Amino acid sequence: MNVLLIGNGAREHALAEAIVRSRYQPRLYAFMKSNNPGIAGLCTETELGSYVDLETICAKARIWGIDFAIIGPEDPLDKGVVDALKKTGIPAVGPTQSLARLETSKSFTRNLVAKYAIPGNPRFQNFTAFAGIEPFLDSLDGIVLKPDGLTGGKGVMVQGDHFQTTAEALTLCEEILREHPSLTIEEKMEGEEFSLQCISDGRTVIATPPAQDHKRRFVGDKGPNTGGMGSYSDSNHLLPFLKPEDIAEGLAITRRVAEAILKETGEPYKGVMYGGFMATKSGVKLLEYNARFGDPEAMNILPILKTDFVDLCRAVIDGTLDKLPIEFEHKATVCKYIVPRGYGLPKDHPDAQSTSAKIEVGNVGSARLYYSSVDQKADGLYMTTSRAIGVVGIANTLAQAEKIAEDAVTAVSGPVSHRPDIGTAALIEKRVQHMEQIRNK
Ligand code: GLY
Repeated sequence: MNVLLIGNGAREHALAEAIVRSRYQPRLYAFMKSNNPGIAGLCTETELGSYVDLETICAKARIWGIDFAIIGPEDPLDKGVVDALKKTGIPAVGPTQSLARLETSKSFTRNLVAKYAIPGNPRFQNFTAFAGIEPFLDSLDGIVLKPDGLTGGKGVMVQGDHFQTTAEALTLCEEILREHPSLTIEEKMEGEEFSLQCISDGRTVIATPPAQDHKRRFVGDKGPNTGGMGSYSDSNHLLPFLKPEDIAEGLAITRRVAEAILKETGEPYKGVMYGGFMATKSGVKLLEYNARFGDPEAMNILPILKTDFVDLCRAVIDGTLDKLPIEFEHKATVCKYIVPRGYGLPKDHPDAQSTSAKIEVGNVGSARLYYSSVDQKADGLYMTTSRAIGVVGIANTLAQAEKIAEDAVTAVSGPVSHRPDIGTAALIEKRVQHMEQIRNK
């Protein structure tokens, strides 16, 4: 069996590991934008290129005799890689370009959820022109601005964080509409966020254990938004601030969205429906969907998947997910990203130049390491400009998993940084208190 993996981050390193540990002993091939030594080490062959270059991707897939492909990041989905592979006769785990609108077009998803009367939407309106924006902004208690199109997870702007006043929001709306075809304006919600990564074959949708990501760069959720500094999941497949009903609600919403997609487009959604949800006083609300696994959240769930990942992929492709028992180990996981010290800092900050530096990996104990933006040179491992290594602790309790991850992080030397607070009892207790306060309001 020959499997093609597209993508080059830590999420894809975790995917690669899940593929090669299959009992089918598949040969893994990867198409990457830049070389990830972790993925390359698990592959029979790799090819470097652009995700826009669908011709080369399909040509390599034919030469390699690929049986099926799995797509890690959103960019190739947005470019239509699944459609191109399909035309070549190669099925994929991942939605077609049209269905990837679940992630790439916030307005598509909000409209779909509204049209099919699925719960979870906040008050929202989509705008393609400036007319009508001001009165809508005036009618909201708190404002969230979401440009249509991919923004690398950094396009959403929230009142209180990215801007303060309605006048500032208006200026931002003008700027967004100059660069994006449309803009979704939503009411800001209050609650605790969680990621529910669901797998869909178009008719059956199953949930994986929920995880919580930490977007902010610095301890205490301070600083700029990043791609995600780390995440955790608990051994009971809940999160300490959630009730089982919250997960059930998130899954029920996602099932109805998959059903709505099939009705609306006639096409079954095959791939990951990663719901960013918020538990609020008035139930679970949908923040957004991503059409792929989360990064870092993939690193929380893939290492504890007991079901053969290749069986899971084939069930998605064949539409037989209802017949496959999907099991996860009852383990807690804590993922912390090691990043260059300058990651997320303004360019004129004295530490901003710490990228592209050499790092040394010491004894990381039982922690798993998933490489992201690192380069293996003859004399060692070098960071590039982005998140470098995802370090994952897996244990019976969150406290043990956090310690494993934290000890491993400190075994990596160089001009690096991470968030020591992720997965700690103190930060989790803050989330629990926050949620209790909201539920009792
Ligand atoms: N965890 C954020 C993302 O994958 O988009």
